[in-house]
Amino acid sequence: MKHEVFSETPLLEIQDLTVGFADRRGFLMAANRVNLRLPKNYTLGVVGESGCGKSVTLRSLLGLVPYPGEVIAGSILWMGQDIQKMSKKELERIRGKEISMIFQDPTSCLNPVFSIGDQITEMLRVKLKMQRHKAFDRAIELLAHVGISSPERRLTEYPHQLSGGMRQRVMIAIAIASQPKLLLADEPTTALDVTIQDQILNLLANIREETGMSMILVSHDVGVVAQNADYVAVMYAGQIMERGNAQDVLHNPRHPYTRGLLNAIPKIEQVGQSGPLEPIPGQPPNLTELPPGCPFQPRCPYVKDDCTKVSMELDRPEPEHGTACCFVE
Ligand SMILES: Nc1ncnc2c1ncn2[C@@H]1O[C@H](COP(=O)(O)OP(=O)(O)OP(=O)(O)O)[C@@H](O)[C@H]1O
Ligand SMILES: [Mg+2]
Repeated sequence: MKHEVFSETPLLEIQDLTVGFADRRGFLMAANRVNLRLPKNYTLGVVGESGCGKSVTLRSLLGLVPYPGEVIAGSILWMGQDIQKMSKKELERIRGKEISMIFQDPTSCLNPVFSIGDQITEMLRVKLKMQRHKAFDRAIELLAHVGISSPERRLTEYPHQLSGGMRQRVMIAIAIASQPKLLLADEPTTALDVTIQDQILNLLANIREETGMSMILVSHDVGVVAQNADYVAVMYAGQIMERGNAQDVLHNPRHPYTRGLLNAIPKIEQVGQSGPLEPIPGQPPNLTELPPGCPFQPRCPYVKDDCTKVSMELDRPEPEHGTACCFVE
């Protein structure tokens, strides 16, 4: 049982992480008391609708919350060490070396004016202190590894000469170059069409198999997470509503929000059949004006009086299947 790995010291432990933004519109909490543990050789999937705080949570792990956001409470332990207490230099060492990240939009991460080769070798020279000719050989090796044919030729090309899928492969090559222990993948396939999406996810799965690296895979697509994650956290309005083993959470969802999310995606056997999908009625709340009690209560079909009074905590400790809902009892 893969769950046993939870008894070891986790690679990453997030405790009560709270990230806030203060701007003219007011104050909002993009991540609200998030708790998660990530063992070695494990994939955590994070799902939730747009704006629920997936990217902000992920970025906060590397100290990359966009201005004016900041971590206002909680701690992030990387192999037992508090990331927020690290010096800039220590954090730089971990970022891109022990922990790598691939972002939602690959075009924004590759510099259009430098060739692919320059960008990969630059990273190898700066992060891994490789010499020029060695970095060049390694870049070829990396491109071949992520399934790019004629890597020597590709190294001389510029980002605009590559397809979206190929650019994402380059991003993955850069991310895995340092053999990180953890890869943060923020919607790595959202911008791609479905067949390319599968290829990229398979590539990531192969790399994980080979290296034993852990991954946090963020997606608004429950299907993507179901196929790729061992463990799942479902976020809504900055909070984790449900989390646990992926099979348990996705096959036996307890939270009305998770049930709603799953109802809103077509099951393979239903494709082409009658019976409309039922999206969750209503919209996620504006984070500057959260409703009282449970943030999902205004949309919840099971809402009770209590739900408007208290915001529930997850009812069971990790790695058990936990749910933050009073209806569940
Ligand atoms: N630079 C910013 N300034 C102010 N608020 C921000 C900023 N970035 C994010 N937010 C707020 O934080 C919340 C969480 O944003 P985040 O990008 O984490 O959402 P997400 O779950 O990744 O959504 P998506 O699926 O669309 O990528 C948003 O509702 C947004 O209002
Ligand atoms: Mg995002």
